Amino acid sequence: MATDLPLLLPDEADDDVLRIENLSVEFPTDHGWTRVVDDVSLRVPAGAAVGLVGESGSGKTVTSLAAMGLLPSRGCRVSGSIRVAGREIVGLTERELSDIRGIDMSMVFQEPRRSLSPAFTVGDQIAEVVRRHEGVSKKDSFARAVEMLDAVGIPDAHRRAKSYPHEFSGGMCQRVMLAIAMVCRPKLLIADEPTTALDVTVQREMLRLMKDLQHEYDVSILFITHDLGVVAEMCDSVAVMYAGQVVESTLIDDLFDDPRHPYSEGLLAAIPDPSVKGTRLSSIPGAVPAPWDWPQTCRFQTRCSHAEAGLCDSEPITLESIAPGRSVRCVRDGQLELRGIAG
Ligand SMILES: Nc1ncnc2c1ncn2[C@@H]1O[C@H](COP(=O)(O)OP(=O)(O)O)[C@@H](O)[C@H]1O
Ligand SMILES: [Mg+2]
Repeated sequence: MATDLPLLLPDEADDDVLRIENLSVEFPTDHGWTRVVDDVSLRVPAGAAVGLVGESGSGKTVTSLAAMGLLPSRGCRVSGSIRVAGREIVGLTERELSDIRGIDMSMVFQEPRRSLSPAFTVGDQIAEVVRRHEGVSKKDSFARAVEMLDAVGIPDAHRRAKSYPHEFSGGMCQRVMLAIAMVCRPKLLIADEPTTALDVTVQREMLRLMKDLQHEYDVSILFITHDLGVVAEMCDSVAVMYAGQVVESTLIDDLFDDPRHPYSEGLLAAIPDPSVKGTRLSSIPGAVPAPWDWPQTCRFQTRCSHAEAGLCDSEPITLESIAPGRSVRCVRDGQLELRGIAG
């Protein structure tokens, strides 16, 4: 059932911090209006960290931009429902959205430097968010900025608050972004590949910091990445996305022990082996096709070693609920012996 909402809590629970239902997004392309996110439903219950995982081109960023109300209001078509802290955000004006961004939901991106202004000190950029939302004085908001820089592990925060972004390393810029995102204590933090551009050691520190902040600030997290290894460290549950659709969603341990979609199996096999630096166990051949080439049947069949002619290529495959909190979109579910990587 396409509307099946995965994860943890019974459907009637309404303390979800994020609840996306039947979200579709279309962009105009040379091939006409093209759907790049197709009927996606997912939930982030209060207090949870939920992973959204899939290769580049799966539709993760477009989904997260929709949840932040950051898609251009003209130039794309959005349908479905997105509720953040119980409030419907599809259809809100830009002004209404900017009032709740930073308070109800915040986002950190892969490229922190691009989101920071080179012309202002990092302290001023954090303080500005506090001033806009809470109307406090310049002095008080700057004090809050220093406090927040300290909370994200910037040493000598009072002095460093007066530095400009170019004076920080990539990892430190990501901490500054996190400070901007967290300073007004949002209910939901969306992190889109926040550690992808960082080297492994810095990535580990960043993940630990986000985990600490999750508990300390009582924020729920939607964590977006192409790396299931990272999801395993950060998240309680996960939605696997391929070619604009959720293909499997479940608790993270269940996915690792017993993946039910061949694409999930492929992503598990592609987790870098930490004992052999820089290597991957194996990866799925090919890449996510362009959205106008997505088959109307199983979208993964062209890359799937389990695909069966006449079955996988004959009709659209629906997302089926197979157990409480567990869904899979594979017509061969139950017939396949897929490999997990249980520890
Ligand atoms: N503004 C846009 N116009 C047309 N196509 C877009 C636009 N933004 C994203 N897309 C396409 O949507 C698909 C999903 O993109 P994205 O959400 O960025 O994937 P991911 O974050 O999973 O790598 C891609 O094929 C991308 O090229
Ligand atoms: Mg992306």
